[in-house]
Amino acid sequence: SWTMGNIIEEQIAAIREQVGNKRAICGLSGGVDSAVAAALVQKAIGDQLTCVYVDHGLMRKGESEQVEKDFVAATGVQLKVVDAQERFLAALAGVSDPETKRKIIGREFIRVFEQAQAEIVAEAPNDHPVAFLVQGTLYPDIVESGGGTGTANIKSHHNVGGLPDDIEFELVEPLRQLFKDEVRMVGSELGLPEEIVHRQPFPGPGLGIRIVGEVTRDRLDLLREADAIAREELTAAGLDREIWQCPVVLLADVRSVGVQGDGRTYGHPIVLRPVSSEDAMTADWTRMPYDVLARISTRITNEVADVNRVVLDVTSKPPGTIEWE
Ligand code: XMP
Repeated sequence: SWTMGNIIEEQIAAIREQVGNKRAICGLSGGVDSAVAAALVQKAIGDQLTCVYVDHGLMRKGESEQVEKDFVAATGVQLKVVDAQERFLAALAGVSDPETKRKIIGREFIRVFEQAQAEIVAEAPNDHPVAFLVQGTLYPDIVESGGGTGTANIKSHHNVGGLPDDIEFELVEPLRQLFKDEVRMVGSELGLPEEIVHRQPFPGPGLGIRIVGEVTRDRLDLLREADAIAREELTAAGLDREIWQCPVVLLADVRSVGVQGDGRTYGHPIVLRPVSSEDAMTADWTRMPYDVLARISTRITNEVADVNRVVLDVTSKPPGTIEWE
């Protein structure tokens, strides 16, 4: 549209002016904000931008491919992918406490990202040094944090690990005047895939905080299957816009008795947590159609080994949070 076209043109001019002939780095999370910010900056400065995607192995089915293939195809962006799955699994081994998991995932993420960043900085020619870090900070992020910079996973204005302390990045925040719906419009206008532009909120620590209990490879695979089925059925039922998000949670430390075929089973429950919300600060559980719930339940118990029960979370926020951890 006319307005979005204007915003894009204005931002492209501003980014070119700010970055000049230097280089920029942008971390991609799979989320809307970082994707749209990266696409805008790519449009403005092309190969002067390098994006980094840390694959921590805690993404849902198909999400890494969305970033590594579809986003790259749509934008032509230079992307450095770091496969850190083993490293995250090793760091999370034996850990069940939610806050400890979050801290470990955050810490490992920063370490891996800084390592990749340092490599990109080292490879850049001296006359075109990397001097900018792109962040998908939105207007509400700025307002909520009292005028500071955004709440992204990556620290703002930080020094690069393993490099002289005087290298500091300046931030490029092309979305800082926009609200979420405007960011989605800009993304569509830039030709980003629908799955990215209309992605529902997903926590940075990913499936790591949707396994109640220790995070292991097998449990992640199991949860990925269950989550993919739930998402498929919600999409098929046309509920993606009505439901704010629907965490799918594996109660890995719980087992219950069931029966399947001629045998008794002793498997894990999967929790469905569909919520309706305006801003995630408060939420209500979504009164979604029983037939859709039934289809999800039947498919998950039939198709996912070791899951013999599907339960629905009917708690609002407060007192429950949206995520279980
Ligand atoms: P809660 O569980 O606190 O979640 O009701 C509120 C919203 O925030 C998302 N969430 C996160 N997003 N990093 C994120 O980027 C995180 O660590 C994180 N934890 C929760 C959650 O999915 C919901 O939309």
